[in-house]
Amino acid sequence: MEMLLRPQSGPTSAVDLAAAYPWPPGRSWVRAMMVTTLDGAATGPDGLSGSISSAGDQQVFAETRRLADVVLVGAGTVRTERYQPLRAEPAALDERLSIGLAVAPRLVIVSASLQLPWTDPVFGESAVRPLIFTVGDCDTTALAVARKHAEVTVLPGSQVDPVAVLDHLTSLGLFRVVCEGGPRLLADLAKANVVDEADISIAPLIVGGGQKVTGSAMLKPNRFMLVHSIVDDGYLFNRYVTS
Ligand SMILES: NC(=O)c1ccc[n+]([C@@H]2O[C@H](COP(=O)([O-])OP(=O)(O)OC[C@H]3O[C@@H](n4cnc5c(N)ncnc54)[C@H](OP(=O)(O)O)[C@@H]3O)[C@@H](O)[C@H]2O)c1
Repeated sequence: MEMLLRPQSGPTSAVDLAAAYPWPPGRSWVRAMMVTTLDGAATGPDGLSGSISSAGDQQVFAETRRLADVVLVGAGTVRTERYQPLRAEPAALDERLSIGLAVAPRLVIVSASLQLPWTDPVFGESAVRPLIFTVGDCDTTALAVARKHAEVTVLPGSQVDPVAVLDHLTSLGLFRVVCEGGPRLLADLAKANVVDEADISIAPLIVGGGQKVTGSAMLKPNRFMLVHSIVDDGYLFNRYVTS
């Protein structure tokens, strides 16, 4: 991998990903991690993000969650991407424990319907019990089912308020949040102006479909500063932070 640093300090041949994706100390921080194609698709022809990803993208993806407290996702992503259990990674365990993190990040899901693939091992075999945020008018039968498989927090209203989610996570001592999508949840976070960092992988692909509709754009977009671009196999791994 080659890193292009700003301002022009020139390319380096080896990238220390741990140094390139730091967490700020002592505060809540929301990192959005997504891969997109040149034509703005979130998925390839199979409807999954893996088919537009690369080995380098997987390395960056792994680094962005390695020392996270929380992996935050929308229910649509859980239904399609079928996450593997979040478990202690031996290579990360000592560092996690030495800085006071749990053995693995906690999976946190936002869902109004509570229609989730409950038999997937991510619910029964993750190191930390998943946590779901749902809405006050959720279906009570679905809520009872959900509580068998995860901890569920019911928030008022017919949509989950991202600010309330982050306040709740902070109250649990969970500050380092990596949101792995999908597009709908990311749009909600952006509209609530809570995205601190955007780690956006750009795949050198045009797939001619796979863009997700997330509603109308904000009148005042969130503005970010580019921190770095890493170039690998034609992919660009861009890290932006709020300006
Ligand atoms: N390219 C990438 O990096 C990437 C990353 C992740 C996912 N994806 C792809 O994106 C697709 C899924 O897209 P998506 O936009 O539907 O995913 P999503 O944001 O993960 O899921 C949308 C669902 O999340 C719940 N949700 C989100 N915000 C909510 C809120 N504020 N209040 C209540 N519920 C909320 C709702 O669940 P309920 O329907 O249960 O109420 C909603 O239908 C999949 O094809 C996946 O493979 C791509």
